[in-house]
Amino acid sequence: MCGIIARVGDSDDAVDELLTGLENLEYRGYDSAGLAVKNGGGPNVFKREGEISRLKTALDDEAPSGGLGIGHTRWSTHGPPTDENAHPHTGCGDRVAVVHNGIIENHDQLREELQARGHVFESDTDTEVIPHLVEEHLAEGATAEEAFRRTVRRLSGSYAVAMLVEDSDAVYATRRGSPLVLGVDEGEYFLASDVPAFLDFTDDVVYLDDGDVVVAEPGGHVITDLDGNSVERTVKTVEWDPEDAGKGGYDHYMLKEIHEQPAALRQTLRGRADPATGEVTLDDFPPGTFDDVERVQFVACGTSYHAGLVGSRLLGTRGVPSQAFLASEYATSPPPVDGDTLVVGVTQSGETADTLAALRQAHAAGARTVAVTNVVGSTAARECDDALFIRAGPEIGVAATKTYSSQVVSLALFGERLVRDVTGSRSDDVERLLQGLADLPGQVQQVLDYSKARRVAKQYRDSDAYFFIGRDTVHPVAMEGALKFKEISYEHAEGFAAGELKHGPLALVTPNTPVFAVFNDRDDEKTLGNVKEVEARGAPVVAVAPEGHEEVVQHADEVLTIPDTHPDVTGVPANVQLQLLSYHAADILDRPIDKPRNLAKSVTVE
Ligand code: F6R
Repeated sequence: MCGIIARVGDSDDAVDELLTGLENLEYRGYDSAGLAVKNGGGPNVFKREGEISRLKTALDDEAPSGGLGIGHTRWSTHGPPTDENAHPHTGCGDRVAVVHNGIIENHDQLREELQARGHVFESDTDTEVIPHLVEEHLAEGATAEEAFRRTVRRLSGSYAVAMLVEDSDAVYATRRGSPLVLGVDEGEYFLASDVPAFLDFTDDVVYLDDGDVVVAEPGGHVITDLDGNSVERTVKTVEWDPEDAGKGGYDHYMLKEIHEQPAALRQTLRGRADPATGEVTLDDFPPGTFDDVERVQFVACGTSYHAGLVGSRLLGTRGVPSQAFLASEYATSPPPVDGDTLVVGVTQSGETADTLAALRQAHAAGARTVAVTNVVGSTAARECDDALFIRAGPEIGVAATKTYSSQVVSLALFGERLVRDVTGSRSDDVERLLQGLADLPGQVQQVLDYSKARRVAKQYRDSDAYFFIGRDTVHPVAMEGALKFKEISYEHAEGFAAGELKHGPLALVTPNTPVFAVFNDRDDEKTLGNVKEVEARGAPVVAVAPEGHEEVVQHADEVLTIPDTHPDVTGVPANVQLQLLSYHAADILDRPIDKPRNLAKSVTVE
């Protein structure tokens, strides 16, 4: 995700204000931090791998003074967390310093062009192409502002960028697809990824639109479009308490992270799938990467295991032999593995001891390993042969929400790469599947806008237990729904394969145990049969189902509706409904939602 900030003012205390801003943005990333400050002359850059405290310590020895500065806190997407990959990035001549949040999709091509013209790169980041391009335009005689505009025109992907240039007293900034807000105070300006960054200094804010270009100097600021035409933006006063601001106005990180899912999913998908051509592009996994793979094993724990189950089903139904294992069981009683086996560790943190143990076990037995993770510098990413990053941005709430959705989408993309390499042909339904993935951000937004999960949670708040059922790709969703429910509400909840209900659990079903039945438009009549069994025992039924299922509506007491989509991805919006249900159930019961008892975000013991 990353956070950026810029400060423009007459007084020389840019460093202090930038550091305060970065601390308030740390929730957006904490792999590395850096800043650049100007006091006449060129930008002075300071950056460190690790948390902001390390940058602060470095600045204790030689804090520069200046009124103009930019800062960055990083959540790695290109290259590991190192001093070199930390922002700000500079060009060859150190005349330009840039901070960036987002993904420059054409960075490979730009880097090649620039290298062919003699530019030398110091980092692995996509961002570094920006200062090199600006530098070239400056050398051609362009002003700093022209050089900035020309450079931005060359970028594709998503970005919020702020720049300092030698011999200019302005900060230049723009956005497309990544957030950027302008804070306005007397004689001072701030540009940042989010309002909390500067809430200690001003609460007057301009929300910028995609394509806006801001030039801010101590004497004033101008907002234009990319062609230089002036645009009008109104200043609004925000009424957030700085203490709550990290939660973006939400009561809990979990709710904020549930609401971040449309943006997280866009980030996961960006540049990786084209529904029109059926092409999947995963930078580190070109076609043929997995030609010698014959079977796939997923290893994971908890919520990530549920994502692994979905990944395994997607492969199995497309002709790739595949199984998902609980990592703790895998490490204890490993299945047969050889050099043709690919073992995929699904772990948002990349630090879960059980998953690491399973991956090490598989590696020692000769398997090839891949980590599917959210954390670029994590142990799983470093120890596995390869890594696929899910790009969900930091997750602070202990209960995994947005990382689950981004894991499922990443596994669907990765799965298609595997299907092609292992079976030699594309999935029959690939265009439809990729369109289903592309539609997810909008569909999840729809669920967030219209969900009636809070009312349902209230209605069944005094129940004895809560059961969740589903089959096929929504069986893992039923399991995940139950896990989330028990984890944060402390109420008894269980998830079952719909067909298994009658083989035992049905004995527990009573009028005081609501059953949440998840449908995905495949074999729905069978799940409906299971719902009728429940109905006959007098239990309330809440269906989580795609729109327009008349028969489901007839047999359900309540319906949590989800948009109609490819059955293999229906589980994502369905799970968002269940995340909201769990959240509201826990909120009504006044549970400590972000830090449930006995649990930790990263479980580093076996
Ligand atoms: C539940 C939850 C846990 C994790 C599990 C694995 O909400 O967050 O079940 O999914 O501890 O964690 P990672 O994905 O970090 O390996």
